[in-house]
Amino acid sequence: MGKTKDTFQARPEQGLSHPETPFQDDEKDLSLRPKTLDEFLGQKAMKANLSVFIAAARERNESLDHLFLIGPPGLGKTTLAQVVARELGAEFKVTSAPALEKPKDLAGILTTVSEKTVFFIDEIHRLKPAIEEMLYIAMEDYELDWIIGAGPSARTIRIPIPPFTLVGATTKAGNVSSPLISRFGITCRFSFYEKEDMEAIVRRSAGILNVSVSDDGAALLASSSRGTPRVVNRLLRRMRDFAQVSGERVVTGRLVADGLRRLEIDSLGLEKHDREILRVIIERYGGGPVGAETLAISTGEAVDTLEDYYEPYLIQTGLLQRTPRGRMVTALAYEHLRMERSGNTGDKTASLFPSP
Ligand SMILES: Nc1ncnc2c1ncn2[C@@H]1O[C@H](COP(=O)(O)OP(=O)(O)OP(=O)(O)O)[C@@H](O)[C@H]1O
Ligand SMILES: [Mg+2]
Repeated sequence: MGKTKDTFQARPEQGLSHPETPFQDDEKDLSLRPKTLDEFLGQKAMKANLSVFIAAARERNESLDHLFLIGPPGLGKTTLAQVVARELGAEFKVTSAPALEKPKDLAGILTTVSEKTVFFIDEIHRLKPAIEEMLYIAMEDYELDWIIGAGPSARTIRIPIPPFTLVGATTKAGNVSSPLISRFGITCRFSFYEKEDMEAIVRRSAGILNVSVSDDGAALLASSSRGTPRVVNRLLRRMRDFAQVSGERVVTGRLVADGLRRLEIDSLGLEKHDREILRVIIERYGGGPVGAETLAISTGEAVDTLEDYYEPYLIQTGLLQRTPRGRMVTALAYEHLRMERSGNTGDKTASLFPSP
């Protein structure tokens, strides 16, 4: 059988849990996507371990243990899954949990995996229980439980499947059941990228897109992109547009500062909507605590988008806290927005936006 790649492609480049977020530029991003572990920048500790596990599996000529990828959108989960397949020299199949409606959808894929295939399931926290059960047996025993017939004459047969590697990705590890988690032998937890890694990503992407970026331009882009490769690639493209239209040949710090102001991205890399969320908590809920559902309604956002995309970065920057009673802004949020505790706007003259 010919090994067709990506046979079960279910919108692989788009995270289905946050379809309406304006942060997905990946369709055009394909050329920027790293293909090897060397090209995959940052996340050093995670990468170092992973390269050992890959080398060991290769040496033993075995499939890699099942791999669990956790992290906010745009940090490289899908990319890493593809890189792993490539490093293993293995076939890559991809689907996403919402696309698996019936056990037969999963069985249809599992019966076509070959030895060492890397089978990627995106949004693994959204698996239906019956499918999850089937996956347990497939992951642990490399067998498929299949029911033939119906009613009293129905019986279950077990079909062996070749040892494959399941790669499950999620933005919401808290929603993944512990029996499923326990079946993954390797867990990779992504953190927001360090500034130096973001700068390296800007340089790499600029090289591929054939854009000249000055050092201060790269530094400002790196610090304004919420530690997220997808965001920095998107901003780099917009800066290229600004440069092109204004007839400039280099993306300089000044051009980036100006571009960020036009896109309403401030010195911490917050977008308008991030600030809106903080403002709503301050103005309507006295700084919090406020529950996620209420906050989502008040800001016109889906709870998933709020929790997956906005909150992790607001928490990371120390502007927001998640408490058992709900979300609360911190003193830093008041300071950053130049707001006073009363909810009045303070010093309006000070700029939120970066200067070159
Ligand atoms: N380590 C990295 N080095 C360089 N570029 C990267 C890296 N990780 C991700 N990217 C870039 O960021 C883009 C987004 O990454 P990716 O689609 O893998 O994120 P994701 O974690 O799967 O997001 P989602 O949760 O939305 O599915 C990629 O297309 C790639 O260009
Ligand atoms: Mg993805």
